[in-house]
Amino acid sequence: MPIYQLALFFHIVGAFGIIASVAIDALAVNGMRSSETAEQARPWLFTFRSLRIVGPVSLALTLVMGLYLMASSWGWRGWIAGGLSGLVAIGAIGGLLTGTRMARIGPAVGPAQGRLTEEMRRMLRDPALVLSSRLRIALVLGVLFLMSVKPSTAGSIAVLVIAIGLGAAVTPLWSGSRRAGGLQPSRR
Ligand code: HEM
Repeated sequence: MPIYQLALFFHIVGAFGIIASVAIDALAVNGMRSSETAEQARPWLFTFRSLRIVGPVSLALTLVMGLYLMASSWGWRGWIAGGLSGLVAIGAIGGLLTGTRMARIGPAVGPAQGRLTEEMRRMLRDPALVLSSRLRIALVLGVLFLMSVKPSTAGSIAVLVIAIGLGAAVTPLWSGSRRAGGLQPSRR
């Protein structure tokens, strides 16, 4: 089997991993926001913990295989630079906005029992977690568009700017209340 096709296969496997990670992240953010007790929040904290492995491994696989595809036949193109920028942004946003907060939330909420304190509820409903989730979903869709359509450099920049704009636009940041983020958690 030609190596290029194999690399493309693993590149797409990595892309699936990224898509699964941002989808599970969005579910976990929603679950944490709707939690009233530590027992309700804990499964979502475990979910986040598994993403600490799946997310970076998927990003790395996509990146390494993408670089191989580029080096072996495409060379440096606008859409590839766009894909690379998008991938770096997805990793950076996940680490800076979500990773740093989850590193504080895990130890604070994980061992707790019963009803969450006001401070814990505020941490779990941090609007930055919603912003991070939506920006990364929008960027993944943007990069998928770049990979499929392969536009010019200007077109690629426009796609990424639109993706970031849309991701931010669907993230209401004015409230840390249950409704913040536009998500409607169910009462359990
Ligand atoms: C979120 C990140 C990424 C996703 C979701 C993604 C997804 C995809 C998909 C679905 C394809 C198949 C498109 C097709 O066959 O027409 C593809 C192809 C490709 N990707 Fe990516 N990609 C990502 C990042 C990157 C990066 C960072 C690079 C380069 C460093 C890259 C380089 C390439 C190349 C060279 C191809 C080959 C296109 C072809 O043979 O038609 N990708 N990517």
